[in-house]
Amino acid sequence: MQHMQTKVGRAFEARFGAGATLFASPGRINLIGEHTDYNGGFVFPGAVDKGVVAAIRPNQSDRIRVVALDLEEEAEFGLAESDKPEASWAHYIFGVAREVQKRGHTIGGFDAVFSGNVPLGAGMSSSAALESTFAFALNDLFGCGIDRFELARIGQSTEHNYCGVKCGIMDQFASVFGKQGCLMRLDCRSMEFAYYPFDPKGYKLVLLDSRVKHQLTGSPYNDRRLSCERVAKTLGQEFLRGATMEQLEAVRAQISEEDFKRARYIIGEERRVLTVCEALEKGDYETVGKMMYETHWGMSKDYEVSCEELDFLAELAEASGVTGSRIMGGGFGGCTINLVKEELYEPFIARAKAEFHARYGHEPMVYEVIISDGSRRL
Ligand code: GLA
Repeated sequence: MQHMQTKVGRAFEARFGAGATLFASPGRINLIGEHTDYNGGFVFPGAVDKGVVAAIRPNQSDRIRVVALDLEEEAEFGLAESDKPEASWAHYIFGVAREVQKRGHTIGGFDAVFSGNVPLGAGMSSSAALESTFAFALNDLFGCGIDRFELARIGQSTEHNYCGVKCGIMDQFASVFGKQGCLMRLDCRSMEFAYYPFDPKGYKLVLLDSRVKHQLTGSPYNDRRLSCERVAKTLGQEFLRGATMEQLEAVRAQISEEDFKRARYIIGEERRVLTVCEALEKGDYETVGKMMYETHWGMSKDYEVSCEELDFLAELAEASGVTGSRIMGGGFGGCTINLVKEELYEPFIARAKAEFHARYGHEPMVYEVIISDGSRRL
């Protein structure tokens, strides 16, 4: 992040002059609990050492001028609802500015330069890193007095209202609340959470990024959410959280086979997160790993958000003796998260690179997970 900090600071000075404040927010990993957040369930994320850094300074006008350094693009827009900019990357910043104002706070215009190193499309929440950076910064610079939960919700509402993704709260929560060395178990219904120091002795946590992003037609993420909501409604519940397989079986004739499979995955995932929590307390990483594989195949066969390349990586992990492996994040491409015994790490990575390359013509990217702090002023 140090390198980005210097780069962003210099670029701001060159474009807008002195006096900027620097802010940063991270991307995230998630150990287990996928697609459970919008079902009122549990998630188990942690912030990573990759994120977004922004240099920002209020400009005493009602205009926002932002430079996306990595894209070498600049956008200028106003603060009102009718000022939505053209560029899709700018929607995140515009959305955050709007959501802050919608909550009754007064902000002014500002100049900003930002850069990021969360791999795009890897399922590591580059967009949440961007939203959290700006939500945190505007709150700080304009003295709005918004608490961290609401900052996370501002990012989430930005996705809902300005980016077309009806996401849950996990990514923005993890980005805002991250803590070095700790995963967080969040109950997405009550918003209660706890930090879990995560230092699995003798194991490494590593991401293998397939670098594939399957552009599915329509909006598959939102469709998954709708399936869950339909089943919850049939069960007479607000969320799928807390539903049992018996209850689901009892309404099977009333719902589509597809919705049945989606709900079966979610019910299983809730049990798996709780199993992982218990296992972690006992240092039982074998059980953690077993649950990760179960999640992978649930996401692949029932939730249908995996793809050939990620199934290949999960199978390869299993064949290499890796303790746990699964697709991470929303799906439709991206990476697997792998819990690997230290002595297996090198041979596993070498094999994954070689076999993936032989089959798909490129190597997966490898990111060792370093669990880091959340949103902050630098
Ligand atoms: C995306 C969403 C999150 C969550 C995950 C899947 O990252 O933004 O809210 O639903 O997918 O767990």
